[in-house]
Amino acid sequence: MDILALGQNIEGTCCDYSSDGKGVVKYQGYIIFVTNLLLNEEAVIQIKYKRAGIYYGEIQQIIVFSSDRTKGICDICAACGGCCFGKLCYEKTLEYKENKLKRNFKLINEDLSKIHVQASDEPLFYRNKIVIQARTIQGKRMLGFFREGSHEIINLNTCSISQKPLNFLWLELKKLILASSISFFDDKTFKGTLRGLQIKYSSYSQELLLCLIVTKYQSSDPHLNALISEINKLRSSFHLAGLIINVNDLNNNLLLGSKDILLWGRDLLRQNLSTLKFNISNHSFFQVNTKVAEKLFFKAIELANLKSSDLVLDAFCGVGCLACLVAPFVQKVIGVEIVEDAIINAKDNARLNNLANTDFIVDDCTNYLEKQEASFDCIFVDPPRKGLDSKFITSLLANKAPKIIYISCDPATLVRDLKILQVSYEIKNIQGFDMFSYTSHVECVCELVLKDK
Ligand SMILES: C[S@@+](CC[C@H](N)C(=O)[O-])C[C@H]1O[C@@H](n2cnc3c(N)ncnc32)[C@H](O)[C@@H]1O
Repeated sequence: MDILALGQNIEGTCCDYSSDGKGVVKYQGYIIFVTNLLLNEEAVIQIKYKRAGIYYGEIQQIIVFSSDRTKGICDICAACGGCCFGKLCYEKTLEYKENKLKRNFKLINEDLSKIHVQASDEPLFYRNKIVIQARTIQGKRMLGFFREGSHEIINLNTCSISQKPLNFLWLELKKLILASSISFFDDKTFKGTLRGLQIKYSSYSQELLLCLIVTKYQSSDPHLNALISEINKLRSSFHLAGLIINVNDLNNNLLLGSKDILLWGRDLLRQNLSTLKFNISNHSFFQVNTKVAEKLFFKAIELANLKSSDLVLDAFCGVGCLACLVAPFVQKVIGVEIVEDAIINAKDNARLNNLANTDFIVDDCTNYLEKQEASFDCIFVDPPRKGLDSKFITSLLANKAPKIIYISCDPATLVRDLKILQVSYEIKNIQGFDMFSYTSHVECVCELVLKDK
């Protein structure tokens, strides 16, 4: 029988952090995860809910404060779930990330002394993309971020991890949208038009790409049209590259639907990494922290120690950033990616940078590698958070590339996959990067070398 009741207040001390950056409190044999509670802090905690045997609590009052607690990087970091370490001093966030990597690598008996996380030069205002939600809640139109773990909306003025031009445009749009008569999506009744918006920014071209996400689009919709004509007035003062309407008519948790309508301008933003230029469309993946991404890619290339005769695979290549950066050093690089728009961008990007020794293929990486007869000299993998598919790992082992460079944003799935790859590969280098400052996430690049060549 549970002794903890929902709504009950308890007093406890934070003894650790969870893998998603929550404070861990042990109370009479129970584990409670508490958002924004820092190590060694003592607090009155209200039990909110229980999931998979773990209680989740909310701070009611802090009794003993950590000396690492700061006033916070913004007003809502305690609530929005974006920056769980928004009130922890930056050095300690790096320590958390290093420990997170070490805990995972300990599971495969790695030498932990070689694990470090490189700090970001700009831990604030770094994200090049912002996503805002619009919902009708109890009859009221609300705009902002989701409250952590819910579909409640928190009002947003400035997001301290999003680049400043995104914030400036957002503040203007917020006024226009709230002054307009457009209805907001209600996920209970499935009525309402506006679901949210996505804005991307390029620090290279200093342009913004704006996408309004709606449940339905009719070119005669007077409310939407009135809003669009107000937004059109911002075109030159905010350097808008294009205005896109994205239609998501499904009752799902995905932000973007599959259909884009370009109202004006172009569905492309020009970014740059090092001396290369990249076109990115509304739907294509681009690393959210451009400056740290550049460092990460150069570390990956340095570890690969490429030769001019090499045949290289960039698996999960997105818009081809890594493949294009690699191309000048090798004979040929092949990029494989499942999103067709991203491959269209990747091909454009190779042309834009005069890189004729690249080939980009739309395919599932597992399918692609399974049928590959050529052996690669080096394979870069940069999968989504869920890591590599077991069939992909089988093909990777069969390909026997002398070197694999594994880029990962989740140490748990990374180490799960490395455990299998270790039958044939030795882990030579592990380097963490603070790509997502003030969040619990850490990016990592690993160099794997084939044991018996
Ligand atoms: C973490 S991103 C890396 C993108 C790219 N390396 C970069 O840094 O810009 C992962 C990419 O894998 C793609 N992807 C996801 N599952 C895939 C699959 N099964 N086969 C091929 N690509 C996939 C996603 O669309 C996304 O572009």
